[in-house]
Amino acid sequence: MKALPIGVFDSGSGGLTILEALERELPKEDFIYVSDSFYAPYGNRSMAYVEARVDAVTGFFLKIGVKAVVVACNTATNVGIKHLRERFNLPFFGVEPPLKPAAKTPGAGRILVLCTCLTPRQQKFKELLAAHDDGRFIIRTLPSLAARVDAVYPRVSLLDNEVAALLSEYTDIVGVVLGCTHYYYLKEMIEGYYGGRVPVYDARAGLCGRVKTRLGELSLLRDREAAGHTSFIRW
Ligand code: DGL
Repeated sequence: MKALPIGVFDSGSGGLTILEALERELPKEDFIYVSDSFYAPYGNRSMAYVEARVDAVTGFFLKIGVKAVVVACNTATNVGIKHLRERFNLPFFGVEPPLKPAAKTPGAGRILVLCTCLTPRQQKFKELLAAHDDGRFIIRTLPSLAARVDAVYPRVSLLDNEVAALLSEYTDIVGVVLGCTHYYYLKEMIEGYYGGRVPVYDARAGLCGRVKTRLGELSLLRDREAAGHTSFIRW
């Protein structure tokens, strides 16, 4: 079991940011990354659609054999991770908008949460928001930004004007939460827009820590000398 790879997936390029962080945190592990591109984007579809995709990709991982699955997508995590955990006997890790650390941002202004249309409609997200909102969070859904990132990836600087136009709609922002892994590519751009004065939160560090700790507890971490390798599949 230990020798099996860790499956990581997203609708497209966003989850690669998670994969890279996992590779750094767990350099001896093998990974298999599925980009579910043919069925992307997830964020403006129905729940049933995303649930079906989450099941299909997980079914593929089970067929080839993985020791854990990382759902490197906020939308798929919010829609489907509960159902995956109920249905399959495998460790599942998901990624969520990091509202908890963002809530500690000092200042009286607002905290802008950027996410897909589907994420804030989910019970899981509503509970997270209720637990951490002190009245400062504004949720902004973006129906096409993830698809735009996929379209220009890796030349995301092409989105500079679009992102600046979006941020210019708000005047009193003290923090920004990236609630979609595709937006992680825009992190430096957003930090630059605010001249480095506004923290921009993503969920990579928290997720990597959880994966390492949990796989360690389950005795599923590799202890070989050799470096791991990653395989990619794009549908
Ligand atoms: N990267 C995904 C997320 O974190 C969504 C992208 C999409 O809409 O397919 O929510």
